Order: sequence, then structure tokens, then C-alpha cells
Amino acid sequence: MKTISDGLRPRCAVALGLLLTAGPLMLAQTGNGVNLQIKADQITAHMPPTFHGLMTEEINYAFEGGLYAELIRNRNFKEMVPARVNRQNPDQSTPAKETKDLVHWSLVQERGGAGSMMLDTAAPLNSAVPASLKLTVSQASGEQRVGVANDGFWGIPVRPNTTYKAMFYAKAAGYAGGIEASIVSNDGATVAAAAQVLKIGDGWQKYELTLTTRNVKASADYKFVLSANRPGAVWFGFVSLFPPTYKNRTNGFRPDIMELLAGIKPQFLRFPGGNYLEGNTFDTRFNWKNTIGPIEERPGHLDDAWGYWSSDGMGLLEYLGWCEDLNMEPVLAVFAGYSLRGQKVKPGPELDVFVKEALEEIEYVSGEGNTTWGARRARDGHAAPFKLRYVEIGNEDFSDREKGSYDARYTAFYDAIKAKYPNLQIIESSGNAAANITTRTPDVTDEHYYRGSDDMAFNANNYDARSRGGRGGRGGPGGNAAAPPPAIPKVFVGEWATRVGSPTPNLEAAIADAANMAGLERNADLVIMHCYAPLFVNVNPGAMQWTTDLIGYDAMTSYGSPAYWAQQMFANHSGDSVLNISATGIPYREYVQAGRGRGGFPGAAQAAPDPNALVPPTPMPRAMPDMFFSATKDSSTVYVKIVNRSAVPQQVHITVSGLKSIAPNGRTITLSSAGINDTNSIADPHKVEPVTADVTGLGSEFTRTAPASSVTVLEIKGN
Ligand code: AHR
Repeated sequence: MKTISDGLRPRCAVALGLLLTAGPLMLAQTGNGVNLQIKADQITAHMPPTFHGLMTEEINYAFEGGLYAELIRNRNFKEMVPARVNRQNPDQSTPAKETKDLVHWSLVQERGGAGSMMLDTAAPLNSAVPASLKLTVSQASGEQRVGVANDGFWGIPVRPNTTYKAMFYAKAAGYAGGIEASIVSNDGATVAAAAQVLKIGDGWQKYELTLTTRNVKASADYKFVLSANRPGAVWFGFVSLFPPTYKNRTNGFRPDIMELLAGIKPQFLRFPGGNYLEGNTFDTRFNWKNTIGPIEERPGHLDDAWGYWSSDGMGLLEYLGWCEDLNMEPVLAVFAGYSLRGQKVKPGPELDVFVKEALEEIEYVSGEGNTTWGARRARDGHAAPFKLRYVEIGNEDFSDREKGSYDARYTAFYDAIKAKYPNLQIIESSGNAAANITTRTPDVTDEHYYRGSDDMAFNANNYDARSRGGRGGRGGPGGNAAAPPPAIPKVFVGEWATRVGSPTPNLEAAIADAANMAGLERNADLVIMHCYAPLFVNVNPGAMQWTTDLIGYDAMTSYGSPAYWAQQMFANHSGDSVLNISATGIPYREYVQAGRGRGGFPGAAQAAPDPNALVPPTPMPRAMPDMFFSATKDSSTVYVKIVNRSAVPQQVHITVSGLKSIAPNGRTITLSSAGINDTNSIADPHKVEPVTADVTGLGSEFTRTAPASSVTVLEIKGN
């Protein structure tokens, strides 16, 4: 994020600062603008402790080749690749590859060395790794070398003077030599780092080495090589290579991506899906018991929801470690007896299997060390139970269209979980609790929406009118005080995004996201959690299954999209209380749902000012506001969010009441750019980022100008 101090302002930032700095002179012009009234002594909601969070699953190489720092691809030699059919460009379709094809491994024969490699199912390492990689060396002496090379996830990222941890299982027959582990450039010219094991025994044994790179140029144009220097046979049972990880966690995470995440101060993590939780069939669901324990004992599985192999290195305990590293609360989604292709079970003995599996999973996460699964977690390396308050039953179970099916499954899980863990909040995943859950009142309902930018803006104020129960709508019961209002679940927006931009969203999307977040924030009494999705995309060719993802990366670097920065701005200025806010004179334009769901005409003629704050005017049946607001505060600061979707600057006359004193000096943090299609990328990671500026002229009444197509946080110091 860029900061502008008073002393040293880049030229463009000064211009922006002037634009935003409005003194009394501008007050005269307010007749044409928006009037915003903030009542700082009227708190409409307390910010929930888990308002801003993350949603995650294995999609777009989120973990494999992403957050999970393992560098070896196909480390237990089981990877298979489903066929990819490209209907639009059939010549770009790719055939399936099977385990026997040993994808991402290749034979190395140097300086006259000769040999072969194959998958061998005789005497495997363990039942999770049923075949090993056999290297047969027929010719190697002196400088000659024969080995196996792994090309990683779009390369092995090499940085200078950096220590990598290699681990492999191996055994040998008729082999008197050692094994060299090295990180070698793809053209063979540079050996960045190398280390040796002097002797390989006849039985399976684990070997661990550290490799420290020389002062080489940072690059992902490298491979990892295990090589032999004598004739004979060597089997490899499992191969792993880790760079330094965030907070040095074993089996941990990429520091650059973790730092980006830390920047948006996430308060919870919804995992492990998403479709990834469900799988296409029961066999390919997230089967949590297969994802715990030593990595070489995890079988891995085909993530057929998104079409690639998962080693399950990112297992249940790793998700929890991720929560621990970033101080997030886990929001655990449990498999609910329903898979993407419609395979499902009815309540009764078949469903009980999954209910039991969920109870055990909850115990693994939160049970004390004297419980069966709490003890297992302790053996796996984490003695302390994790704090768990939210459990979600399935994912998007609106897909189960059989009437009453999810209702009955939800009820079975709800009753069993509440019986053992009465304090857990049970989230229903159909997104429409009123219609789909009749037998119980879910604690929370999980709503998902992916929209074009006009659709997002058009719907951004929807929660203002949402019933809080009772007959009085917002504000609680009306009418008969004796009859309690019907309980209604709180809202969790567990997946949402404005889908404009690929692989990552552009400024247009970020502004529409901000419009939605203003609505979420104003309604934090009802909407208690939200998380953008998907979170990650590896931007390499062939890695993306879903366009418009919050954070992009390749093997070397990562970047936050403009939408990332919108999240960052809201989460870093959330305050602890939501304030009464109303606006008049908001510009509107007609909402036209267009192709790509983008609709509308940026900067089109604006409707007459609306006398009703935040409510579309009646003369324009499909009216869409162009500005959105929310205000929160903590003990010393009021945070006003001003979202301007229009293509012209907008004056906003702001009245603040309910504070004893207001400092004239404050700050703005503004996300804007030359054009709404502007975005960030690996090549230009900082093109669209918020700019911080000092401002003056604040008080109980003042005017600010919101730049065209922008998101602004205005910090007003006062109490
Ligand atoms: O976020 C991508 C997918 O969208 C999720 O896996 C699924 O829950 C939703 O349909």
C-alpha cells in the first residue's frame, strides 16, 4: 500500500490529495451533491469478532503449487491427470495421464551415464504409496551421473543463499554408491545447491538433507535431481523438498502468500470447501482421516471437483496450523453425505457413518487430549485443542433438489452435534434456511453469490431490508409483544465475488465488491461473517479452473488484486461498532443486465437525488445506486467508507453528530486508478493499490470529493 506523507508527495499523489482535501470553500457546492449523515452516538450493531474471513479449497492450484510450500510434484508417484476436453478449441484438449506415466518425473543421464526408471509395485514403502520409483543404473562411473528429476509446480523456485529441506525414502540393491540431491537449472548449466547421502541401505530408510543455494539469480527455471554415480538399482519411496516456510512451520506455507493474507487481517477460515469438500463422488470427498499423520502415509486423492491430483499434504491439521499462524478461527465444513454428482444417502445407518465421521473430526479439532481423536491430534504434533465455534453441514446443499433431503440430513447432523457439543453453531449450507430447513432453526445460513459488477451493485443494499424476525422487520418484533418473533438464522456469506477480470479481478470488480461490503458492514447485526471466493489462483497456463480469484501467484511471486485491496481496506478499518448512517442525493443509473452480467453504463445520466437514504427511487424501476456508504467506529476513530461507482467525481457533504470533539485532521485511504479495467498482475503487481493521504478541514460538517470510480476510507478522529 502506498503512503503519502505531507513532506514527500509524489506528483500524482498530490493531485489526488488535493482532490480529496475539501475545506469550507467547497461547502457552498453541496446542493448538487450527496448528503451523508452519520450519527456516531447511534450504534446499530457491534462488529462481530468473526466478520472478515477467508474461504478456501483446493482449486486453481491453491495449495499444491500454491500456499502449501512443497516443491515436489507427484511426490508419491500416484498422480493421475484426467482428460481435459476443450469444446471450443478441440485441438487444445489433452488426454488423460495415468499413474504409470509418472508425470513430472524424468530420467537424467549425464556425461555418458545410462539407465532407466520405472514404477515398481514390488515391496512398496507402505500401503499409501503402493509403487516406488525404481532407478536402474547400467553405466555410471567417475563424473557420469544417472538420476531422476522433478520439474515441480511450474518450476522449482530458487532464491540465492536460501536453505531448502529435502527428504526422501530410498533403498538399494547391488548398489555401492551414494545419492546426490541437487537443484539444477533446466539447461543444466547451473547447480544452485547440492548435498549427498554417502550410502543407501538395502531396506527402506528416510534420508534428510539440507541444500543451501549459492548466490544465484532468483528463478523458477530449475529442477530437483536425485542422482546415482555407480551401477545398480535404487528405489525411491517418497520425495519432498521444502523452501523456508512462514514462521518456519514444518510442512508449512509460502511466506509471501501468508504475508498477503496477514495483510487482510482475516478472523476466520472456512475450509475445506467448496466443491472440494464434496468431491464428485463419496470416494473423492475430502476424507479427513486420509489427510492426517506423516505426509508419506497420506494416500492423496484425485480432486475431481476441479480436475487435478491432491497429495493431501494440506490436510486437516495443516488447515488448523494455518488458522494458528494467522490467528483465525476455523469454520469447519463437514461432509454431509452428498456429492457433486448427486450421490447421497438418506438418514439412517448409511448417513450415520458420515455423522460419526463428522463428530470424530470435531473431536480431532477441539477435543482434549484424553479423547480418542484429541489424543490422535496430540500424537500428530498438536497437543492443545483448537477453539471451534462454527461447523457447516455440507456445501451448497441447494444442489440436492430432492424435497426434504437436505432437511433430513441437516437434522441428523444438527441433533448429533448439538447433543455432544451444545455450544457449537451449526451452519446450514443451502443458503435459504426458511425454504429448505423446516425441522430445526439453523444457527447460521450460508449464502453464496457470484455476480457481475452491476448485479453486485444492484443487490448491494439488499440486507438493509432483510427481516430480522418478528413482524416489524428490522428492529425486531412489532405488534403482539406476547408472541416472540420467530427465530431466524444469522447470515454467513460464505462465498461471494464480483466476477470481472481474469485471472484476478480488476478495479471495476473491486469497487462493486466494496459496494457490497458496505452493505454487509451496515448489516453486521444480521450478517455475522463473510469471505470472498475463490481465494487463490496459480496464474500459470492450465492452472486455473475458475476466473476472478483474489490473490494470484506463480512459483516465485504473488500479488493482491484490486479486490484484495478492497478487502484489506475494509478489514483494516472495521472498528468495533456500526453507526447509524443515512444518505440523500445519491446518484443512480438504470440497471440493465447485460452480457457477462456487467450491465449498466458507467457515467450514464444520473437520476434525480433520492430523498430516501440507501433506498432506490421509485420512478426508476430498475435503479441502481452509484454510491454506497457505511460508517463504523472504535474508541478514537470513525471510519467512513465511501464507494463511488460513477465515472465522475462526487461531492459528499458529511454531517457527523454524537461526538464531543472532532479533530480537523484525518486521513483518507483511496483505491482508484486511471481506468476501471486496470488491474494487478505478476508483471505489474502494484498498479492498483490504495493511497493514504493526510486530510484536513474535518469537523461536524464538511465536504469531501470522492474520485471517479473509487473506494475511500475516511478516518475521522473524535470521541
Ligand atoms: O468458489 C468456487 C465454487 O463455487 C465453490 O467450490 C462452490 O462452493 C461454488 O459453487
